[in-house]
Amino acid sequence: MLSVAARSGPFVSSLTAVAHTVPSPLKTLQVAPVAAAKLLPLDPKRPLLCRESLAGQAARGGLVASASLNAPASVRYIHNDVTVPDFSDYRRQDVLDSTKSSQESSDARKSFSYFLSATACVATAYAAKGLVTQFVSSMSASADVLAVSKVEINLANIPEGKNVTFKWRGKPIFVRHRTTNEIEKEAQVTLTDLRDPQHDLDRVQKPEWLVLIGVCTHLGCVPIAFAGDFGGYYCPCHGSHYDASGRIRKGPAPLNLEIPAYEFISDESIVVG
Ligand code: FES
Repeated sequence: MLSVAARSGPFVSSLTAVAHTVPSPLKTLQVAPVAAAKLLPLDPKRPLLCRESLAGQAARGGLVASASLNAPASVRYIHNDVTVPDFSDYRRQDVLDSTKSSQESSDARKSFSYFLSATACVATAYAAKGLVTQFVSSMSASADVLAVSKVEINLANIPEGKNVTFKWRGKPIFVRHRTTNEIEKEAQVTLTDLRDPQHDLDRVQKPEWLVLIGVCTHLGCVPIAFAGDFGGYYCPCHGSHYDASGRIRKGPAPLNLEIPAYEFISDESIVVG
């Protein structure tokens, strides 16, 4: 018991009395005198330094500076000398009167808020649309590129039986003035003999004028006109043979030569693109 009393710190004085009452074979038990509890005098004028007082919940006074082991030192002021500004100029007229219920003007104020929100949304959407349009248009082709997106070709300069190459959007364009023999010969080809079946008349707008993109459908070489086994075009890269309608007849190319979009703007000129 003495050991407990020695270790009990602040309760030592209370436990010491109990320690004297431990029975012993040598001495009879006796009631130990216990000192009467002493009331601590509390000075009501003196502020109580506790957590509450330091947190501002205790009695108020003037400037209070305090410190304790449990709370950080602090200095508190009472701000009863601060004049609250008048914000009436910034408040809505409907709610200036504090004696009036704000419910009465609620609908009108909500309408104004909705109107402001809707206006802000429309303005934001308009600005976003402008930004997106500007961004997307910055990725489109420039004016000089668009200017060459269409090519006008004068057919009067191409004699019958000749093939002329033009450049359009970086690709070669073949314009061939076909002879009557070539037209008849290509018209008689049986479609079942073709790898990419297409009638000659489906590939031309006028039988005497054949317009093709001069890019081999195998790996993209430029074929040679009036060459190959079928008198049309021949691609020397891997030996693809096209006829005078641009249809693949022999070799590794899988498809016919492509036909670009074009239109006759007169009997003697076309616009490609
Ligand atoms: S690229 Fe023309 S045949 Fe291969």
